[in-house]
Amino acid sequence: MPSFIALASLFWLTCLSLISAAPFSYGNNRLGNGFPTVANPSAQLTAIEAAAHGSLPDGPAPPSAPSSNSITSLRLISFNELTEVAFFTELIANITNNVAGYTFDADRSKQHMLTILTAIQAQEELHELNANEAVTKFGGQGPVQPCQYNFPVDNLKDALALASTFTDVVLGTLQDVQNLFGTDGDIGLIRGVASVIGQEGEQNGFFRFKADKIPSAVPFLTASTREFAFSALNQNFVVPGSCPNIGTIDLPIFDPLVIETQNIQPQSQNIQFSIIIPTGGIPSSWHSDCSGLSLVWINQQNTPIVEKLQNIQIDLKNLRITFETQFPFDSASFGNGLTIAAVTNSTGPFATADTVAADTIFGPGLIEIN
Ligand SMILES: *[C@@H]1O[C@H](CO)[C@@H](O)[C@H](O)[C@H]1NC(C)=O
Ligand SMILES: *[C@@H]1O[C@H](CO)[C@@H](O)[C@H](O)[C@H]1NC(C)=O
Repeated sequence: MPSFIALASLFWLTCLSLISAAPFSYGNNRLGNGFPTVANPSAQLTAIEAAAHGSLPDGPAPPSAPSSNSITSLRLISFNELTEVAFFTELIANITNNVAGYTFDADRSKQHMLTILTAIQAQEELHELNANEAVTKFGGQGPVQPCQYNFPVDNLKDALALASTFTDVVLGTLQDVQNLFGTDGDIGLIRGVASVIGQEGEQNGFFRFKADKIPSAVPFLTASTREFAFSALNQNFVVPGSCPNIGTIDLPIFDPLVIETQNIQPQSQNIQFSIIIPTGGIPSSWHSDCSGLSLVWINQQNTPIVEKLQNIQIDLKNLRITFETQFPFDSASFGNGLTIAAVTNSTGPFATADTVAADTIFGPGLIEIN
């Protein structure tokens, strides 16, 4: 069984073939409990807490409003959790209804999986309500409203692999969120996010285990940023134009970086990518031969690696550029767990994922190995 998945390419290929499935919508009280509109306190909230095996934090709200940058982080968390609840709701429905690709040999195994996923779904609902409550109280722009979503999977194995990858992106992004809370002086928000990072890590250990991987991927999980998470959610899951107030989230959505290489193995190799030429043509800062662009790899807590683009093919007719770069896999030092790829308009050097994101034009490409 392959122990890897090049999700960026998987998304793009499968998106095309799954176009017929109706998108997920929260309309018509899809969850049956009013979510994402749940009052605190209410009988609905108590039922979600029972299903989640625990409660929303019940302490007093922060005495003063967080910084606007911290509100942006809370809005992103809400946006992400709305996507996750949609995913787990659809997954639970697929399993419950014995949809092809989601069936079990034994009813006991099916019920066990549903027990696990039902708790995760409710826990994600509480993560969302917690973030959106703070956003509503302090943000002045109302809660983040849900979009419609398509998930590019049609079987349980791929669904759990997808859950593992988006959870890895969240686990990297919450590092960024905590760091920004610290630099913005919102120390009171850090502890709660830390509790969610551990919680999502517990979930991911299960997703990885189901994929025949060891539960704990690497000693220091890969860094991501808010911009990469927001871009990945929008590029891969969100139905374009379906989000009522996405404009209240002050983050960029990069253009997609498509990983063309399939079945990426744990070895040093060249990886093929494609990007789209923007309307208006190749910007002068890229140089006409694209030598102004770099491919940057982010893995674990190491200094991002900058690679030159090789074998650049510019197809002006189809507005598409393909190129290769080296993926310097080494099991002791680079490439296990989540690797984030980004195309930047500078050569760095980059000390952190945040400085990569600041110069990113295309990304993130997501690679999972081991
Ligand atoms: C549920 O099954 C449908 C039909 O195969 C599929 O289109 C959808 O992506 C699945 N959703 C999840 C979360 O697995
Ligand atoms: C490089 O990209 C960043 C992010 O999009 C942008 O802010 C910056 O202006 C670009 N630099 C040049 C020289 O075009």
